[in-house]
Order: sequence, then structure tokens, then C-alpha cells
Amino acid sequence: MDRAFSISSLYLILFLVIFHRVQSVNDIVEDTCKKIAAKDQQVNFDFCVKSLGSDPESYKADLEGLGLIGIKLLQANLTNTMEYIKQLLKQKLEPSLLKALSLCLDTYTSSTYGTDMISAYKAKIYYEVINWGSAVATSEDTCDTQVSRKRGMVPPLTKRNADILQSCLIALWIVEILDGIA
Ligand SMILES: *[C@@H]1O[C@H](CO)[C@@H](O)[C@H](O)[C@H]1NC(C)=O
Repeated sequence: MDRAFSISSLYLILFLVIFHRVQSVNDIVEDTCKKIAAKDQQVNFDFCVKSLGSDPESYKADLEGLGLIGIKLLQANLTNTMEYIKQLLKQKLEPSLLKALSLCLDTYTSSTYGTDMISAYKAKIYYEVINWGSAVATSEDTCDTQVSRKRGMVPPLTKRNADILQSCLIALWIVEILDGIA
């Protein structure tokens, strides 16, 4: 084998190895999102890929790692939104809006109170994580609909609530797949 040939084939192999890594990276996020979106019409595939893909760790993650990322993203969404509601409550807004925002803060607070989902998840106590996720989904519904049948009843939170619901569904489905019940 001549030298030039072996060097170029070395590059080719290197290229293929790197390409394969990049390829398998995107696959875990896309495959998981595809699977979840097929199970649940409420799940937005693009949101799922963008959200899980936003963490650089997802590129080396397996499904268990991806679940952890999903839970952290959901917690960040909840914390940020609860902080945002607290800021809004300090403003001079319509009394009816203030009342609606208070209900949101109460329901989100009670569904997140005293829970360390990261520990439960890492300890593989999946039913606890699923109970928590279901409580968050219920809170989201309570906040967004204000116990009416219509969504988007608290306009300043509509987008944030929708994000929480998406993040919540994604985390829940991953945990249910890991738990073997989905
Ligand atoms: C909620 O999560 C989504 C996706 O991970 C992100 O795009 C959005 O900025 C987050 N919103 C807040 C308020 O944290």
C-alpha cells in the first residue's frame, strides 16, 4: 500500500468515526421525540427536539440521561415561571388578573413543594416522579384554564404554561418508557 493512499484512508476512517458520533448523537434526541410524539398527539416534536437538544449533555446521553435532562428542564421552567408570577403579583394589575395569577402560583407551588425529583429519579423511584409529573400537569391545567374549560385564560402565562405542559409531557413519557409502562 502506498503512503498517500494509507494516509487518505486514515482520514476517511477518522471522518467516518466522527460522522458516526455526530449522527448517533442527534439520533437519541430525535428517536426519543419521535417515539413520544407517536404515543401522544399533544407532544410537539419540534419543541421536544429543540428542548432536549438544548443541553449539550444530551449528545452523550442514553435514555436515562435524557430523562434527567428532561426533568431538569421542567424544573427550570417551573422555577422561572413561578418567579415571573411573583414579579407580576407585585404590579398594579386588574384585580381579576391578580386573583388568577395567585391561583397559578398556589397550584404550582403545591405541586412542587417538598419534592426532590432529581434524587427520586436517580434512585429510580419512577412512580414518585410520575406522580409528581402528573401533579404538575394538573397544576398547569388549573392555572391555564382557571377551572373553566378554555385554555389561555391567563394571557401573560399562556406561552409559559404551554412550555411547562410540553416539558412535563416529555419528562413523563421518558420516565414511563424507562419504567416499562409505556
Ligand atoms: C421552558 O423550556 C423551554 C424548552 O426547554 C425553553 O425554550 C423556555 O425558554 C423555558 N421557559 C422558561 C420560562 O424557563
